[in-house]
Amino acid sequence: MKIIECKNNIFVLDMKNTHYVVGIDKFGTDRMIYWGKKCDVDDYEIFTFGDENSNHTVLDEIKQECTVFGKTMYRECVLKANFYDSCREINSTFIGANVEKDRLVLNFKDEYYGFVYSINYRIFADCDIVEKSITVKNESENDIEFERLFSAEFTLPSKDEYIISNTNGAWGGEWIEANEKLSAGSIVFESKRGISGHNNSPYFIAYQNADEKSGDVYFGSLAYSSNFKVIANRDLYSNTRVILGMNDFDFSYVLKSGESFTTPCVYAGNTQGFGEMSRQMNTLAIEHLLPRQFNDKQLPVLYNSWEATGFDVNAKGQLELAKIAADLGVELFVMDDGWFGKRNNDDAGLGDWFVNKDKFPNGLNELIDGVNELGMDFGIWVEPEMVNPNSDLYRLHPEWTYHYDTRVKSELRNQLVLNMTRQDVCEYVFECLDNLLSEHNIKYIKWDMNRPFSETGAENLSCPKMLYYLHNKAVYDIVDRLKEKHPHVAFEACASGGGRADLGALSHFDQCWTSDNTDGIDRMTIQHGYSLLRPIKAMRAWVTDIAGINKPCSLDFRFNIAMQGALGLGGNLLKYSDEDKEISKKNIALYKSIRHTVQFGDLYRVSNQDDNEVLINSYVEKDKSKAVVFIASRGTRFYKKRINVLFDGLEENAKYKFTFQNKEYVKSGAYMANVGIPAHIHGAYYNEIIICEKI
Ligand code: DGJ
Repeated sequence: MKIIECKNNIFVLDMKNTHYVVGIDKFGTDRMIYWGKKCDVDDYEIFTFGDENSNHTVLDEIKQECTVFGKTMYRECVLKANFYDSCREINSTFIGANVEKDRLVLNFKDEYYGFVYSINYRIFADCDIVEKSITVKNESENDIEFERLFSAEFTLPSKDEYIISNTNGAWGGEWIEANEKLSAGSIVFESKRGISGHNNSPYFIAYQNADEKSGDVYFGSLAYSSNFKVIANRDLYSNTRVILGMNDFDFSYVLKSGESFTTPCVYAGNTQGFGEMSRQMNTLAIEHLLPRQFNDKQLPVLYNSWEATGFDVNAKGQLELAKIAADLGVELFVMDDGWFGKRNNDDAGLGDWFVNKDKFPNGLNELIDGVNELGMDFGIWVEPEMVNPNSDLYRLHPEWTYHYDTRVKSELRNQLVLNMTRQDVCEYVFECLDNLLSEHNIKYIKWDMNRPFSETGAENLSCPKMLYYLHNKAVYDIVDRLKEKHPHVAFEACASGGGRADLGALSHFDQCWTSDNTDGIDRMTIQHGYSLLRPIKAMRAWVTDIAGINKPCSLDFRFNIAMQGALGLGGNLLKYSDEDKEISKKNIALYKSIRHTVQFGDLYRVSNQDDNEVLINSYVEKDKSKAVVFIASRGTRFYKKRINVLFDGLEENAKYKFTFQNKEYVKSGAYMANVGIPAHIHGAYYNEIIICEKI
């Protein structure tokens, strides 16, 4: 892995299997030269040409790394500025490059307005991923306002049509894939809600004739948890471009004299097949993005009280659950909503982060000590960015929420969003959480966020349209500060389920809540969508009493699905029969023996249940010494019961021993990848976990 500086201002980002090649043409303009399989570096060249005619301009046609608004360029741009005299054109030229082993910075300057910007690149030894961002600097006396400040631009190599993939999810149905052929014009994916949200995802996947194992796949994921926008466009020259970054909807960023700003990063790659894409992004997240305290630690099995007790929490009831949880093998007990303020349902208490003395007359330590004595760590739920109008905090500080004096504040779930761009609000939130962590032996914070923004007025800001960015930054900053002071505390990002499960959140939080939908069958689809570009290790998955929205799926089946991430339990354990407890114990013990492979291994999606009715996912240790294969069937139809069970990702020439459907096998990796075992799958909710050990 290195950056190669070639003749004529051409720079090759030389990664494991691919090249990303950029350069500067003779006019000082940035150019995107190539992205894909490696070629001889001496062959790369920049071609220049003139306007075709008055309607087909060269500036409109060329492939760039950071298109700026202006001149005779009419396509979507990455940067659009508004200078002090109302000029809105950027007219820049190359002023030099900084080249290091793994980093490249290309610098440009608009001399007249004292505006400097850089395109930043970073590459990694262990994957084919390029990190891209833009830095803008104001070297003038005047403010520079940006109407658009995206993070990255990509032009895909082929002139043929690509299929663009994103998600069309919802609360309770996160990450449902949406694939659309891009023939002409633009496809846009975005969030305007103040969080990345449940619907579209802050990434793109563009592919041609691709499946899990083959075909050209290009992708890029934005590390940002607020409003984002992804625009994929195919132009009149048949070029497919993708640009992405902070959404320019209700957006503005003012850079004052002497200031600089770097956009959120995008992580992009080119692989053969979707499987390799996911494995590369998983490796990237574990090795380089997830917070360092826990990135290399196995995540504990947790119990969460929400679905069992709702708001009705107290020391006695929680300890009753905790005793059973400990007996089953749970390692971390998390008390969810309801422990603070006057929180008896969702219409009061948010903002009052003080222990509810009616529910916990002796404070929280009675419960925490009890949980610790049972051998488990203790975790707790908070929703720090919110306030209920029915709270002491709101009665004291009604001005602390986003609002317009002339408009009614829209409540959702009876709550309002705190203006986290105010220093005093951030200090209040930090202090409450700092005290909570200082006074109690808490090892885990579940940080929730249950409503999108509205009435986004912020009188404290000279440029209120910066608030989405600033709010998001405040959340990251508070988490970082708390982590610095309390390094033993792990953080979970939750937003009504998976509303904030993006790479930005996962650069500050250690894990995320995937979905409030814990139905085994639905989870097969939700987790599949999650696994495309997000790290498996960070995906919290609980076994709950939602046995199945249509038909009950067995407890074993629910474990099979939840064990394919960071396992948790969320059912009402008081209602568990002896048999349920035995099944849970057995599965938790099994999970502990395989979780290293699941959390740190490579995922091979052998068969996708949406297409095939039977899900087969194989998790393989990096050194190929062990694999864990999960098989789960949502129910076979049309009398098709015999399938060929294949395992992918094993070492081809090595032999593995495993037991499948009560029969012992010794087979090579090549055999299992190509020939497989014909198996009879017994209808709905059949499930099995196969452990393959290399011999
Ligand atoms: C939404 C979360 O997704 C749930 O897990 C739970 O924590 C509730 N909020 C509590 O209000």
